[in-house]
Amino acid sequence: MPNTSKSLFERGMKVLVEGVSSASRGPATFGGAPRYMSHGHGARLYDVDGREYIDWMMAFGALPLGHAHPKVVETITREVSRGTHFATALEVEVEVAEMLVSLLPHVDKVRFANTGTEAAMAAFRLARGHTGRRKIIKFEGHYHGWWDAVLVNTNPLPPTLLGHPNDPIRIPDSSGIPEAAWKDTIVVRWNDVEALERAMALHGHEAACVVTEGVMSNMGVIPPKPGYLNRMQELCHQYGALFYLDETVTGFRLSAGGAAELYGLSPDIVTYGKALGGGLPMAMIGGRADIMKGLEWGKVLHYGTHNAGRLTLHLTKVMLETMLADNQAGFAKIKDLGQTMANEVRRVAKASNRHGILVQGVNSMFQIFFTDQEEINDFRDFCTHVDRMKFRDFTLRLMDKGIYMNPSATLHSLSSIVHTEADIAATGRAIAEVLEEMP
Ligand SMILES: Cc1ncc(COP(=O)(O)O)c(C=O)c1O
Repeated sequence: MPNTSKSLFERGMKVLVEGVSSASRGPATFGGAPRYMSHGHGARLYDVDGREYIDWMMAFGALPLGHAHPKVVETITREVSRGTHFATALEVEVEVAEMLVSLLPHVDKVRFANTGTEAAMAAFRLARGHTGRRKIIKFEGHYHGWWDAVLVNTNPLPPTLLGHPNDPIRIPDSSGIPEAAWKDTIVVRWNDVEALERAMALHGHEAACVVTEGVMSNMGVIPPKPGYLNRMQELCHQYGALFYLDETVTGFRLSAGGAAELYGLSPDIVTYGKALGGGLPMAMIGGRADIMKGLEWGKVLHYGTHNAGRLTLHLTKVMLETMLADNQAGFAKIKDLGQTMANEVRRVAKASNRHGILVQGVNSMFQIFFTDQEEINDFRDFCTHVDRMKFRDFTLRLMDKGIYMNPSATLHSLSSIVHTEADIAATGRAIAEVLEEMP
């Protein structure tokens, strides 16, 4: 069989940084040449060498409808001949905003952007503008995009660099970030009420916001402990800091109302991305009217040539209509498939009994941890107890058997409405084989 991925990688390395356009797609994650993909259909990806894969990554969650869903193809085909983007006011912009506001009880108004990072940048600026405060409280291991102020403690660290749990060592994840950018960023241990209460007592009265992912989804999948996020919301109210729920991953994933609905939260600000665009870049900032008013001209600025692209909005609309049809059947389906897949991995791992494996999941999201622990509860557990190299070996072997999961243990797998029970069974069989083959 030709190895076109390998030759594309050699060509790519000459003209693209790492041969790709994001580290998670290249040698930093794959340990060598990634698979170059040619097309996708339903739950399947096809690479340039003609290999077929069941795709459990789904563009990091951007594809709840899978690849080339007939409604997506029909919408793009219908709308593209009328123009892709005008950077003007649009009827479909109002329609999609109306759908979002009627769906999310904590959102009175939205502002569209393109990526989760951009939306988060605007949300942090808005929180600071609205409160007149400067500090941001974020959590170890939580990722909110690659903006300087919050790109702190988002990558796994050696346990000796974690610091005391009451006072995590703050470490920016990149060169080129001036200290001034994260001077006002407070990093707190997640899933630990006492740590949060202590941090709020120290900094709460100066905090513009407390930002959290609803489910920690950039260290595998780590669910919040019961009541933890509700306590966080309460503490925010007590100290006058905005409660900012980053739904970039969890939005239109965990439920129609995201993590807020699943855990009974009423955040002051939310940001969405990924699934929102149904496969094209779309993000939003949403929140209470009095807070969102801060984004008006002359107050807190937010611009963007590509905001609210016409074609993208039509895809957002079709994604929402499809997922919400028949009493939100799409969300019930991805939840059921995700949970069934997670259980299948548990069953296969138990039957094999050759490796310490823990599967953690919430609805449509799950991750497989190579660990001897019974639970991974936070960043510290992840950094100390999860074997990331073993996971990479596992996923690369799975790729040879036609199953695509991203090789980074910090990411996770996802179901879409086009996965099937047969895909789950085939994935289970491949996992069983790989677990026998692995040293
Ligand atoms: C929770 C969270 N927030 C923000 C972002 C940034 O989104 P984007 O990659 O669209 O900039 C991500 C991306 O993975 C994310 O997981």
